[in-house]
Amino acid sequence: MELESLQGFAHTFQTAAVASLIFAACIFFSQFNLRFQMAKLPSFIGTHGSSEKQRQAYLTSAKHMYVDGYNQFKDSVYRMVRSSPLALETVVIAPRFLPELRKLPDDVLNFPAAVKDLMEVKYTKLNPDEPIAYHTIKADLTPALARLNPILCEEVDSAVKQELGACKDWTSVPIYMALVKIVAKVSGRVFVGPDLCHDKDYLDAGINYTLELIGAQRAIKEMRPWLRPLLAPRLPEVRRLREREQQAQAFLKPIIKARLDAQKDPEYQKPDDMLQWFMSKGGDSFDSMRVAKFTLGLIFAAIHTTTMTATNILYTLAATPEYIEPLRQEIRTVMADNGGIITSRALQQMQKLDSYMKEVFRVYPPGFTSFNRKVLKGITLSNGQYLPPGVTIEIPSYAIYRDEQHYPSSSAFDGFRFSKLRASGTGADHARNQFVSTNETNLGFGYGRHACPGRFFAANEIKMILARLVLEYDIANVEGQVGRYDNIEMGKQSTPDPRKLLMFRKASV
Ligand code: HEM
Ligand SMILES: *[C@@H]1O[C@H](CO)[C@@H](O)[C@H](O)[C@H]1NC(C)=O
Ligand SMILES: *[C@@H]1O[C@H](CO)[C@@H](O)[C@H](O)[C@H]1NC(C)=O
Repeated sequence: MELESLQGFAHTFQTAAVASLIFAACIFFSQFNLRFQMAKLPSFIGTHGSSEKQRQAYLTSAKHMYVDGYNQFKDSVYRMVRSSPLALETVVIAPRFLPELRKLPDDVLNFPAAVKDLMEVKYTKLNPDEPIAYHTIKADLTPALARLNPILCEEVDSAVKQELGACKDWTSVPIYMALVKIVAKVSGRVFVGPDLCHDKDYLDAGINYTLELIGAQRAIKEMRPWLRPLLAPRLPEVRRLREREQQAQAFLKPIIKARLDAQKDPEYQKPDDMLQWFMSKGGDSFDSMRVAKFTLGLIFAAIHTTTMTATNILYTLAATPEYIEPLRQEIRTVMADNGGIITSRALQQMQKLDSYMKEVFRVYPPGFTSFNRKVLKGITLSNGQYLPPGVTIEIPSYAIYRDEQHYPSSSAFDGFRFSKLRASGTGADHARNQFVSTNETNLGFGYGRHACPGRFFAANEIKMILARLVLEYDIANVEGQVGRYDNIEMGKQSTPDPRKLLMFRKASV
């Protein structure tokens, strides 16, 4: 090699080396700085000794740790134990800071960024940033419920018949599996319309996608961060997701095309579903991969969350049979009052049912924390504590639910707790004790600007399914099962065991 070009090479090499050194130093420094800032925050000291023991304790009984932390740090924030050395470190925020945090703009405290970290979006390619998604749910879906409810109700009726069968005698039913199919069909009706929502392959794919997404997320989390850029895309779990994206696109492309073609006819009546609302916002040249990802995101946010909530309710109902008759009475009366149809008004009137759902959501929440947000710009709290950029925060919602100050006799299950408050109180009590309402002490659907926009739809759907089941079936635990099935608790998550059986028998009317 010529000397000159050798020098040139050396120079380029040097420049590259210096550049990457600076890059590495920046990363190191930002990590170092984050660690340094984090070290100033107090940390939760459990009674479990070594950090390995603490991690184990976190996996099996995080619930109790959050309650202990809540009592220990009423007026400050603290670092929580991590479930593994690779897990994100989180700062738990005492609820008294919620009002000041809620006001912060998205470039300071951010929800999608927390989802991106949590769900390893770089590799799973879930898109929590789709700008039209939130708006389509809030501005199109929720207001449409009044006119969609009769259609949803029909869909619920036929799906329940299909999944539960005749049940002439007591029949054991794997209720999670039955519910997930009912929910996939009913929400599919609103998401992608009447053609796809009964397609077996669509339903299978929709139901499996979330489980595969969670599987991929786990596999990525177990990998060392510096190996991820190279190896994560090659994981079979991650490749699976790419196949699902292709599949979703293949499902949707012909429908999108047919709709765009039909639109050329001025007489054409546009379908009334999420797919159409989403397309309408995106203009005529709609990108089918974007629609596919939007739909997968919707499926992820909607199906298993709703199914878990409904399963938790039914597991509880089978263990508290004294509630079945009063609920059935209410449903029967309300139906009769509304011409036998579950209209929006009828759903509003089912206050005992609404209360029962909310109490289950309080006592068996799917997670022990809420309001997960990532700090993008450092925040100084009103007590002087500093939250450095890069850290993820959470609110100990379960501990709040167990606080006697907020929920008297908090450890008792009182199915009509909220309907009693609504009946006895003022107009404000009426509004704030609904299943869908959220506030600083009531965080199951999150809080503030990013609180779940799908909760009105989910509430309607769950209520319709429960109304149908409670009205038409006797429901009981399997023989030998005493009390409610335990949930499976892992870290901050709590899920109903999807394999358990409940007994159903067609009620004699
Ligand atoms: C019972 C069922 C459901 C539960 C328990 C649930 C729970 C939640 C929670 C806790 C959040 C985070 C809110 C926050 O941190 O402030 C959330 C966000 C969200 N949920 Fe739900 N959800 C349910 C059903 C649904 C349904 C049916 C849809 C769609 C129709 C949906 C769409 C969304 C979306 C798009 C977000 C993100 C909001 C944003 O980016 O601002 N959810 N949900
Ligand atoms: C979905 O998962 C179930 C159970 O794991 C499996 O039997 C089924 O074939 C899967 N469906 C699709 C479309 O992959
Ligand atoms: C917050 O929600 C709970 C449960 O729905 C309710 O009982 C309470 O009154 C609400 N608090 C405020 C201040 O709105």
